[in-house]
Amino acid sequence: MLKIAVTKGRIERDFCKLLERSGYDISPILNKDRKLIIDTKDGVEYVFVKASDVTTYLDYGVVDLGVVGKDSLIEKDCSKYVELADLKIGKCKFCLASKGDYKSKKFEGKEVIATKYPKLTKQFFSKKSSKVDIVNLNGSIEVAPVLDMADAIVDLVETGDTLRANGLEIIEEICDVSTRLVANKDVADVKKDEFNNFVKSLKIDM
Ligand code: PRP
Repeated sequence: MLKIAVTKGRIERDFCKLLERSGYDISPILNKDRKLIIDTKDGVEYVFVKASDVTTYLDYGVVDLGVVGKDSLIEKDCSKYVELADLKIGKCKFCLASKGDYKSKKFEGKEVIATKYPKLTKQFFSKKSSKVDIVNLNGSIEVAPVLDMADAIVDLVETGDTLRANGLEIIEEICDVSTRLVANKDVADVKKDEFNNFVKSLKIDM
């Protein structure tokens, strides 16, 4: 039995489509209602959790694999995990975004950047040698520049709808993000064949 922690929400929906086209029976997942652990006849058990917790379940060894966005991995200590596959789902971009007048602004003190991704934001601005104050938020980041609490945001953009709906625009694209199949490095060595077989069974888009 393979146990997989899957990020709830958009990644879960895209991963289900991938499982279905790979021949897995996803009906127990579609009918799960509020149940969070779903056993299937395919020999796989799925555990539905929040993105930021996927690696915690791997750390405790209670799941074998994790399905999680690269965005969440970037903020963790990546040396502990191995990416077995880029699942080519959940594709989006990390962007610096703000109101239209951002580019003409001259920042004399520190710029204020709101984000859910402080590590990536620090790295991005240190490459530019710009000094920033980071405001950590947990969601709805777009609100911060609209209310003039921050000069800009670093956030994920998929369709761009949230930015547009809030009068914001992309200032700079930082990097691409997609969903990864990950394992704890030590476990991946021991369960190499089992993990390889699972990856091979997935019809990942090229
Ligand atoms: C993410 C992200 C943006 C939005 C981008 O938020 O933080 O707000 O999706 O998607 P779009 O470009 O398709 O509009 P999410 O919906 O995960 O919720 P959150 O604000 O609670 O993080």
